[in-house]
Amino acid sequence: MKRILAILLALAMVFTLAACGEKEEAAPADSNLVGVAMPTKDLQRWNQDGDNMKAQLEAAGYTVDLQYGANDIATQVSQIENMIANGCKALVIAAIDGDSLGTVLAQAKEAGIPVIAYDRLIMNSDAVSYYATFDNWLVGVKQGQFIEEKLDLANAAGPFNIEFITGDPGDNNINFFFDGAMSVLQPYVEAGKLVCPSGQMATLKEDGSYDKAVVATPGWDTATAQTRFENILSSYYADGTVLDAVLASNDSTACGVENALDANYTGTNVPVITGQDCDIAIMKNLIAGKQGMSVFKDTRTLAAKVSEMVDALMKGSEPPINDTETYDNGTGIIPSFLCEPVACTSENYKELLIDSGYYTEADLQ
Ligand code: BGC
Repeated sequence: MKRILAILLALAMVFTLAACGEKEEAAPADSNLVGVAMPTKDLQRWNQDGDNMKAQLEAAGYTVDLQYGANDIATQVSQIENMIANGCKALVIAAIDGDSLGTVLAQAKEAGIPVIAYDRLIMNSDAVSYYATFDNWLVGVKQGQFIEEKLDLANAAGPFNIEFITGDPGDNNINFFFDGAMSVLQPYVEAGKLVCPSGQMATLKEDGSYDKAVVATPGWDTATAQTRFENILSSYYADGTVLDAVLASNDSTACGVENALDANYTGTNVPVITGQDCDIAIMKNLIAGKQGMSVFKDTRTLAAKVSEMVDALMKGSEPPINDTETYDNGTGIIPSFLCEPVACTSENYKELLIDSGYYTEADLQ
């Protein structure tokens, strides 16, 4: 019995020492640690956003834990949980699904960690301190205006055939992109100058917003967009009906549309197609005349603003904001900084993208 007790005692001591050793070895919580959660590595822009954020925060003296959530909500939630457990002092989050972070962000709030929503607003959480994005409504307006100009809707009799595609239903940005574009196009729909042969149109609701279920693309996925448009083209355009325009909310969905267009749509028959992000692959299509426009959102500027916000929060000063009216996340208005989006076409892309050092000429060849 005594021997058993002695063995147990010895084992207990070994475990205690090992546990103490672990504690001693664990790195002390970094008082400068910032967690940066990005949605996916699949799209070019988020890689740039992540790299820019890391570089700019590190240059300002912070340690950065940068994670990509593989477009999987549970993965992003657990990455944020780890950031909190590791003692981060601020969180910067581009949400995969704006509505799914309430529980984990309640933990952040409890721990006194400020949260900045990056590019996409995080909904229904009072833990969100600030929001930094581009003027998303203006992105949509620029897309709508491009279609308006290219089809000369103000003067031409029409009717013109148009189809619509937007992004993930869980991304609050689509409400601004799509509804902003429709603020320009809706009068032409009502006047019968724009018609949608597939009938797959977002419905205008009483409050002036649109129900976008039929035009949404889960995950902003290119292949999903392509399949939908292949079906639309074979069902509604195979008889020779001409597709004049596609309102696409971003480049990854526009890319799906362009992949679906067949040999009937080349040269002057290419529909007017919009996008946003100025992804390299899409810029190649734009230069080749397969896409009319994209919207340039300089991710360097957004990252610089968010780094400034983080720095101000860490130092107890006021973060930069320029909007206190537009973005209500369901718990109230979130003070925001809106960067400016710029329409990019074959006419100005060199100045916007190459002269500014965003891309090299070789990148776009
Ligand atoms: C961003 C767009 C991007 C899209 C898909 C949106 O929230 O604002 O720039 O194209 O997500 O990743």
